[in-house]
Amino acid sequence: MAAVRKRTDRPNGASDDAEVVIRVRGLRNQFGKQIIHDNLDLDVRRGEVIGIVGGSGSGKSVLLRTIVGLNQPAGGSIEVYGVNVTKASEAERRSLMRRWGVLFQDGALFSSLTVGQNIQVPLKEYTDLPRALIDEVTGVKVGVVGLPPFACAKYPSELSGGMRKRAGLARALALDPDIVFLDEPTAGLDPIGAAAFDQLIANLQKSLNLTVFMVTHDLDSLAAICDRIAVLIDKRVIVDTMENLLKVDVPWIREYFHGPRGGRPTSSRTGIEIWRPGPAMSSSALSCSASSSPWWFSPSGSAASASTARSTPI
Ligand SMILES: Nc1ncnc2c1ncn2[C@@H]1O[C@H](COP(=O)(O)OP(=O)(O)OP(=O)(O)O)[C@@H](O)[C@H]1O
Ligand SMILES: [Mg+2]
Repeated sequence: MAAVRKRTDRPNGASDDAEVVIRVRGLRNQFGKQIIHDNLDLDVRRGEVIGIVGGSGSGKSVLLRTIVGLNQPAGGSIEVYGVNVTKASEAERRSLMRRWGVLFQDGALFSSLTVGQNIQVPLKEYTDLPRALIDEVTGVKVGVVGLPPFACAKYPSELSGGMRKRAGLARALALDPDIVFLDEPTAGLDPIGAAAFDQLIANLQKSLNLTVFMVTHDLDSLAAICDRIAVLIDKRVIVDTMENLLKVDVPWIREYFHGPRGGRPTSSRTGIEIWRPGPAMSSSALSCSASSSPWWFSPSGSAASASTARSTPI
């Protein structure tokens, strides 16, 4: 088995990096007899985009929900900016909640509120801003995520899926957070919409210096914007760059990255930008742009950028 590059000798996702903003140690999550996480360690570093992958039901959303305090773990500790989330006082929790924003898997916009009103929920709950300033901030957030101003007055049911994702992101950004948690942000979007959303997240991360914790099934998102990837497997995580994970000889990881719906990235945002089809991929499975050529083909003979071209969503 090829060795995964380790930053420490700890068994999974821990590191001793001083810039760690989320530190998970010995996490155990259990529902009845079903153990979801067992002795899971994970570090998330300031300013990185970390992608969380794993089979359906492996516990990605539970991990996210536990970190943001929505699920009480059966054991272990979670520190965000040095505050133990599970033992935090109400005041500490409120101050933490001002520092992160969450885009849930199902969007979780309030259907009876307009987009603008949705964005204003955290602003009203966590700030004392006057009404006029709240309106102004709302307009700014709508613009930041690339929604037209008229979207402010729309109800979620009046928006397309992509617009709803953007509206959810605008709400997650309402309080100018340092960390954004995204659960399957590109699921259900068409390949072009998903690529645009990836680009938006990458741009926001850079301009706002965000730390991004992104659960995804989307290999293109992983290649396009993630600095590191945490693979949830056997109730723990293996964390590394995609480049290094591609060398790992763990069956699920091999199947995921090299299987019929996987790809073979050859460089990234931190070194991997270009994708080529894996051995089991047919070009027809990858062809999803308006062009008749598969997305990875360009006339110059070089592969297309993953940020502008995508495979069939998985
Ligand atoms: N509140 C809960 N009570 C009982 N079981 C739960 C609860 N939340 C999650 N589970 C179970 O925990 C397991 C992990 O769920 P989770 O939602 O984290 O999966 P996931 O990795 O996000 O999957 P997907 O990729 O399908 O979204 C599942 O078996 C799920 O049924
Ligand atoms: Mg999930």
